[in-house]
Amino acid sequence: MTQFRKSTALSRIQPAATIAITQKARDLRSAGRDVISLSIGEPNFDTPDHIKTAAAEAVARGETKYTPIHGIPELRAAIAAKFARENALDYAASQTIVCTGGKQVIANALLATLDPGDEVIVPAPYWVSYTQQVEMTGAVPVVVPTRAEDGFLMTAAALEAAITDKTRWLILNSPSNPSGAVYGADDLRALADVLERHSHVWVLSDDMYEHLIYGGTAFATMAAAAPTMKDRTLTMNGVSKAYAMTGWRIGYAAGPQALIDAMALVQGQLTSGAARPCQWAAHAALTGPQDAIQNQRAVFQQRRDLVVARLGAIPGMECPVPPGAFYVFPSCAAYLGKSTPEGRRIETDEDFVMALLEEGGVACVHGAAFGQSPYFRVSYAASEAELSAAMDRIEAFCASLG
Ligand SMILES: Cc1ncc(COP(=O)(O)O)c(C=O)c1O
Repeated sequence: MTQFRKSTALSRIQPAATIAITQKARDLRSAGRDVISLSIGEPNFDTPDHIKTAAAEAVARGETKYTPIHGIPELRAAIAAKFARENALDYAASQTIVCTGGKQVIANALLATLDPGDEVIVPAPYWVSYTQQVEMTGAVPVVVPTRAEDGFLMTAAALEAAITDKTRWLILNSPSNPSGAVYGADDLRALADVLERHSHVWVLSDDMYEHLIYGGTAFATMAAAAPTMKDRTLTMNGVSKAYAMTGWRIGYAAGPQALIDAMALVQGQLTSGAARPCQWAAHAALTGPQDAIQNQRAVFQQRRDLVVARLGAIPGMECPVPPGAFYVFPSCAAYLGKSTPEGRRIETDEDFVMALLEEGGVACVHGAAFGQSPYFRVSYAASEAELSAAMDRIEAFCASLG
């Protein structure tokens, strides 16, 4: 019998824990169990109507064929205009690229630049795909833990200590999935001061949650906060989170021409480019009315406040107030070593979330999946009614541990 054999690169890859837990919650539900899922990073709003209409009109016009690999010129111009308008970043349309989701922006950049043995600095807790995509290239993720006391921000000293002559990239994500941490302009400049001394290190700035910041901190991105870094920074963003468009699969980036063209070389061989009607939808998102963003932000802030207040009131739970994104990242340290009423012993954050799912009926993701224990991520991209019910369950579950 012929045996199936995975490539060496693929054998290093884990399925995304976020998707695995969401699937487990679905399975429990179809088996008749009542489960509330707070495990997925997807806004529960609908894509605004003018965006849907733009896609439908594009299809009706016959815009159903391949696009130029970098993306349609109209969308690339809208991306350059967005960076100028919102981020004070001056990029030519030729320095932009449209990809199949933010995920593929990162994949293109890493595949275009990394050789086996190269290193990529990833502050933890990190979005699950960074380390996995780095591993796929044969390069090595260098995970740098952060501390809740520092707001889960990487310090300049920690960055300095992690850099070697093999470092190719630092991946920064602000606001952060999963911690909700936000780097202000001064925080970025402190990191840039370190990078000034290491001109071989590039920055991938993942700004997917740009519009979801609550309270005083203004959004900042490396190429604008530290202009000397602009010629070695890839600034990436997308429409998935800002416009409730996860299923349209459009992400984009701007950066130095040579990098953008190298990314297009990868993309040309992998997908030929993003779907044409979806590019028109993204064009409508970036050029049309922006009020949906403000409305969503106000709703998310209320939900965050509800979740933080409820979790913070649970004895033993430590829940810092995250300034951005739509996640909270509380510590479950106080429950380690305890047992559930069904006799399950909780030794790790993964045990905690599994028991919470199976015995408490709420799906969250363990911190270990994001490279930092003992925490867990609660997504508040759910309705207030669901969130309140889920908080009741988490409270009852924690009280039941002994
Ligand atoms: C931090 C971060 N970057 C990138 C992405 C990818 O987004 P997209 O759905 O556009 O591929 C996500 C999605 O969850 C994310 O959380």
